[in-house]
Amino acid sequence: MQLSAVVTGAARGIGRSVVVQLRAAGYRVLALDIAPEVKDLAETDQVVPLVADVTADDTPRATIDRAVAEFGQLDLLVNNAARFLRRPVLDTSDEDFDGLIATNVRPAFRFARAALPRLAETRGCIVNTASISGLIGVPHQVAYAMTKGAIVQLTRQLAVEWAARGVRVNAVAPGAVDTGFMDEARAADPDPAASLAVTLSNHPIGRMSTPDEVARAIVFLAAPESAGITGTILSVDGGYVAR
Ligand SMILES: NC(=O)c1ccc[n+]([C@@H]2O[C@H](COP(=O)([O-])OP(=O)(O)OC[C@H]3O[C@@H](n4cnc5c(N)ncnc54)[C@H](O)[C@@H]3O)[C@@H](O)[C@H]2O)c1
Repeated sequence: MQLSAVVTGAARGIGRSVVVQLRAAGYRVLALDIAPEVKDLAETDQVVPLVADVTADDTPRATIDRAVAEFGQLDLLVNNAARFLRRPVLDTSDEDFDGLIATNVRPAFRFARAALPRLAETRGCIVNTASISGLIGVPHQVAYAMTKGAIVQLTRQLAVEWAARGVRVNAVAPGAVDTGFMDEARAADPDPAASLAVTLSNHPIGRMSTPDEVARAIVFLAAPESAGITGTILSVDGGYVAR
């Protein structure tokens, strides 16, 4: 039986690479994003694109139901959609904070809750995209880092709660990745080049990771051959947290 997956935040960056790599590994994929560009993925056969907002109340349940209707089963959920905010704590408004929780945390919980009974039927798994910002302190990211800390703990919590039912739950924790994600934040810095230099100097490999490198770790954690791995937060950070 062919494996099937739901990937959120699939229009670009890491999520898009995950869809491409899952396809190469033989999965059928429901690829969700708020950005209409996700429809481009339909050119890859056996990818069902879905333009939807993960924060909408009915999106998680409707998406999981749609995947099961399309594929007959669900083997993998990749909770990947998120927004970034670089802002010092005293400049972080209630709206900033609530908005990041609403996008980065609540949907991951609600997607997982909708998917878990289906994943138990297939002994499937969840892979969440966390961040090194959820593991260590990084200046001027308090709201974003708190959301990623929540993703780390969502991962561990569900891993221990659902292991007996055969569902594995893991996460990747990327360092800086060369996607559009932080470009806008960096562009708003007074000196974007200096900001980039600081970012690179924090990564012992001297460069950002690529979306494909992070996607490779997600696909590895998802693979049936990784059946012994659950509750793991796999850093893909060029040595950032090892320093
Ligand atoms: N890029 C980095 O440096 C970096 C570092 C650590 C962790 N991450 C994490 O990796 C994941 C993917 O980030 P990326 O770098 O590929 O970013 P990206 O901005 O390229 O991709 C994120 C995708 O999520 C989608 N999205 C955002 N809000 C959404 C919503 N409400 N509903 C549906 N889709 C929505 C966006 O449209 C976009 O396509 C995120 O969870 C991010 O926190 C990224």
